[in-house]
Amino acid sequence: MTDVLTPTSTSDHVAERVLASALGAIDTLSIALGDRLGWYDALAERGACTPSELAGATGTSVRYAREWLEQQATTGLLEVEEGDPRRFRMSPAVAEVMTDRTSLAHVAPLARMLAAAGARFHDLVDAYRADTGVSWEDFGVDMRESQSDMNRPWFEHELAGALAGTPIAPLLARPDASIADVGCGGGWSSIALAVAHPDATVVGYDVDAPSIELARRNAADAGVADRVRFEVADVGREHLPGGHDVVFAFECVHDMPRPVEVLAAMRRMTAPDGAVVVMDEAVADELQAPGDEVERLMYGFSLLVCLPDGKSGEDSAATGTVIRRSILREYARAAGFDDLQELATGEFGFFRFYHLA
Ligand SMILES: C[S@@+](CC[C@H](N)C(=O)[O-])C[C@H]1O[C@@H](n2cnc3c(N)ncnc32)[C@H](O)[C@@H]1O
Repeated sequence: MTDVLTPTSTSDHVAERVLASALGAIDTLSIALGDRLGWYDALAERGACTPSELAGATGTSVRYAREWLEQQATTGLLEVEEGDPRRFRMSPAVAEVMTDRTSLAHVAPLARMLAAAGARFHDLVDAYRADTGVSWEDFGVDMRESQSDMNRPWFEHELAGALAGTPIAPLLARPDASIADVGCGGGWSSIALAVAHPDATVVGYDVDAPSIELARRNAADAGVADRVRFEVADVGREHLPGGHDVVFAFECVHDMPRPVEVLAAMRRMTAPDGAVVVMDEAVADELQAPGDEVERLMYGFSLLVCLPDGKSGEDSAATGTVIRRSILREYARAAGFDDLQELATGEFGFFRFYHLA
């Protein structure tokens, strides 16, 4: 990394780093605008556009469309076709990142997620002062949908293969396997498990009702609604049926106000010969300062999203995104497990899989 600051960095270096961060933030928010307004989709569908063509195709303002197109060209994301009128074109690579919802390169939802966090800036300031939280519900639709959109390609393309060589695979391949997915969000993990295991039934639980509605729509569109059902439930606080072959929690234990309670519930929901699997952030075992890009990203999510979300529930453990192996081990033991083992899934985005037994 070229932008690492050290105790010997000069004030010029620090100022350059802050300026570079501001340019990154401008890119991020402009990408979120283009994503939310359908401008990237329209460019992908129509090819090169003038401001009025883009605005006409998306029901938006011509003047703002022009400013955005020029900004995107200035920052290098779009190309200019000179002429009268001037047109703006998106390369196939940019189109994939911004508009291909099934591509592993589709990281545009990250921008929407950070914009959704920024929109709650004053709530975050208040929460930091009062030691309270900002809930998933308060963060709203852009947060919920961007989270779901971010993880979707990984679940669709990589989840079945990642689990294939692990001790979990035979449990998923049992005749009529029963799978539970705790904190399922938009449901793409449940859907991917059902697609990969045609004899299995999957139930996804989430405390957030709009997430469950989204998950139901996604399952219907994916053609698996007959084997995948989604229920609103506060796992850990409600009695849920047991006997599942595998109970998963994908990227959510660190968000949960009471993770021990949830892990204990997952243990109860699992058949005696079944397994509990937690996928969470692949962070370092200790604080690194300065840290690498993954640690910086995870602390960013923690400050702006996950810690405030986790602190919005009563009796919060206040975990934050940086859920180190030792923290999850401590939670697992408190929930009644002997220990946890990392599954050899190979590289899987920013994540690591743990088998709790
Ligand atoms: C960061 S999102 C992850 C969603 C999904 N697993 C994914 O990978 O995209 C965390 C989810 O956990 C849910 N959640 C938090 N506490 C919960 C609880 N006690 N029971 C059920 N869901 C919970 C939230 O509503 C949210 O949808």
